[in-house]
Amino acid sequence: MSEIAKIELGGNSYELPIVEGTEQEKGIDISKLRGGTGGYITLDPGFKNTGSTKSAITFLDGEKGILRYRGYPIEQLADKASFLEVAYLLIYNELPTQEELDTFKNSITSHTLVHEDMKQFFEAYPAKAHPMGVLASMVCSLSTFYPESLDPNRDQEARNLTIHRLIAKLPTLAAWSYKNAMRHPFMYPKNDLDYGANFLHMMYAMPTEDYEPDPVIVNALNTLLILHADHEQNCSASTVRIVGSSHANLYASISAGISALWGPLHGGANQAVIEMLEQIAEDGDVDKWVAKAKDKNDPFRLMGFGHRVYKNFDPRARIIKKACDDVLAKLGIDDPMLDIAKKLEQIALEDEYFKARNLYPNVDFYSGIIYKAIGIPTEMFTVMFALGRLPGWIAQWQEMIDNKEPIGRPRQIYTGETERDYVNIANR
Ligand code: CMC
Repeated sequence: MSEIAKIELGGNSYELPIVEGTEQEKGIDISKLRGGTGGYITLDPGFKNTGSTKSAITFLDGEKGILRYRGYPIEQLADKASFLEVAYLLIYNELPTQEELDTFKNSITSHTLVHEDMKQFFEAYPAKAHPMGVLASMVCSLSTFYPESLDPNRDQEARNLTIHRLIAKLPTLAAWSYKNAMRHPFMYPKNDLDYGANFLHMMYAMPTEDYEPDPVIVNALNTLLILHADHEQNCSASTVRIVGSSHANLYASISAGISALWGPLHGGANQAVIEMLEQIAEDGDVDKWVAKAKDKNDPFRLMGFGHRVYKNFDPRARIIKKACDDVLAKLGIDDPMLDIAKKLEQIALEDEYFKARNLYPNVDFYSGIIYKAIGIPTEMFTVMFALGRLPGWIAQWQEMIDNKEPIGRPRQIYTGETERDYVNIANR
């Protein structure tokens, strides 16, 4: 017999259907609640219990620490796939054949240049501009160069052009936001390099000097980008979907996702982790910082710990932790920050406060240490996350458009003043 949820309201009983996903996740379908009950809504700040959509892209089981893109375990993808292969999988539902991947790569490669006029936009930003602010603005600015591509309801071929442009140009825009901060000359993309190596070239080469990307670094970058590629209905993906649900164009929707990612409770945590570790290293007293994190009167939190969905080890953190050890060993780097991170992790994992709340290291705890090891400046860490997350945002946006989802428009419970009359300013 199929399950039904029942609620009693004002002496009446209402039945609500149960929806079940392919991994047996269950939800109560309340889409007819308000109309059926004469105005009742549900209240769920932060959407801790609310499913905003049905999605076939990413499966995540926070209790068991499982993450799969289109059914493929993250461990296998991180070990065996290339980032563009994973991007293809997320956006087009299946792993590409060699021919499909070659066509996809060729298309991406042919769009890596950005319009020359955009260089002037960069030059207008101050050197101290945070690269995430620059990146969000630049992605939105891309829309102004392609006015014919603003309608999200065009055919797949036209849509693909916008998607490929975005994937191709984001590394160029990201690297140029760094070059601008350094007041270094911009480096043009080199299309004989693969996706990650090309990004590193645009970051580190100079007109006077080539940059030969180290395969260890290119490999680590590939893994990191894959691990960040999607994470179902997180803050930035939900932002992309909700902005896109107004039929704003894809550039504007992705730009909004980049802004959402910037916050330290989301993608900005990777920068915050390194800043925190630096503070702890300076101070030398790890226990003091753990105590601060536990103190309810102190706003300090252990950055890189805890997750809305994972109540177990974040599977991405497991992979990154290993990659981090490998990269540091292969590059011969002895980073005291890693020792502090390990000590902090050990103390927190054994501490009753963290155990009781299921607070484990998340993806951002170790990613910053790898980025630091491969020479990415701290302010660029969240930009790196954005580079990885782009295909996920695109896939989420596309699914929302294809499923003809209605405009996202939550309700509220109003708690303000009831009606009152306007008072002239002299009488207030
Ligand atoms: N340090 C200390 N206490 C914490 C932490 C932390 N990092 N995270 C959660 N708590 C406590 C929190 O104070 C609360 O305690 P109590 O029940 O006594 O009030 C309890 O754990 C539950 O926390 P919450 O804030 O209700 O949980 P949430 O699901 O709303 O927040 C989070 C999730 C990721 C925002 C939060 O854990 C956090 O702020 N972590 C630090 C920032 C961080 O690392 N963010 C990156 C997330 S992973 C990358 C991504 O996908 O975005």
